Amino acid sequence: MSGAVPPRLRRIFPEPAELTVESFLEELLARRADRAPREDRPWLALNMVASADGRVALDGRSEGLSGSADRALFHALRATTDAVLFGAKTANLERYGRMVKDPDRRALRERAGLAPEPLAVCVSGELSVSAELPLFAELEARVVVATRALGRLEGARAEVDYLRLGDAGLETLVRALRSDHGVEHALCEGGPRLSATLLAEGLVDEFYLTIAPLLVGSPPFPVVQGPLAQPIRLELLDSIESAGTVFQRYGVAS
Ligand SMILES: NC(=O)c1ccc[n+]([C@@H]2O[C@H](COP(=O)([O-])OP(=O)(O)OC[C@H]3O[C@@H](n4cnc5c(N)ncnc54)[C@H](OP(=O)(O)O)[C@@H]3O)[C@@H](O)[C@H]2O)c1
Repeated sequence: MSGAVPPRLRRIFPEPAELTVESFLEELLARRADRAPREDRPWLALNMVASADGRVALDGRSEGLSGSADRALFHALRATTDAVLFGAKTANLERYGRMVKDPDRRALRERAGLAPEPLAVCVSGELSVSAELPLFAELEARVVVATRALGRLEGARAEVDYLRLGDAGLETLVRALRSDHGVEHALCEGGPRLSATLLAEGLVDEFYLTIAPLLVGSPPFPVVQGPLAQPIRLELLDSIESAGTVFQRYGVAS
């Protein structure tokens, strides 16, 4: 880890409390036990960061919205899950690489009985994800590419499994993660189009939204980009503040 000062975290709901990134990480690991995966699919959380006007990118990337607290929580969430899902455009724009780089975090996962790093799951209907991403150059990375296309990514050094999506949506994918890869807990990092499909198909159990103290205006990339049959009701479970950024954890009504 870098020598940067760790962010100060303050829980403001349900009960006020001071937290550290490490205590938050321990909470996440402990919470796994309360979140029994269903038999047919993993327990799934969706994590996004947005400006106060609900935009998810600044100059095409989420980096400008994300402060040190959000980055710390983002990595803590990754460090405690079995699989990380992301869309092709997010992977390409954000130059996705290894899921958990920090050797201390990898060791912590192993002590908790988890694989050293989560399975990386890229959803790319037309296989538009770039084979040049650092993720595919990692010999040790375990990657699933979920696609409707029949091809393969040329030149990938990582171990890549292909899951061929039919026309039935993403339920096939999450079921296969549970049955074929033993995934009990999964985390989706967006983008907005992948998030919309997972929400519309009723596959999301919790929604994490970090709100950065910033107004971005256009272009209009909202947190969820796609139709929902009806509004989805959320229940606020947790709210953490750090330097004006607020991390909200919501339960998603089933
Ligand atoms: N603020 C945040 O937390 C956050 C998080 C993630 C991304 N972002 C931003 O969001 C923007 C990208 O948004 P986006 O919505 O286009 O990203 P996305 O969902 O990551 O990528 C869209 C692509 O993913 C694949 N995909 C998504 N849903 C699919 C489905 N149901 N079935 C099959 N394939 C599916 C498709 O790939 P193919 O083209 O191969 O079919 C689609 O073109 C970027 O600016 C990124 O920086 C922000």
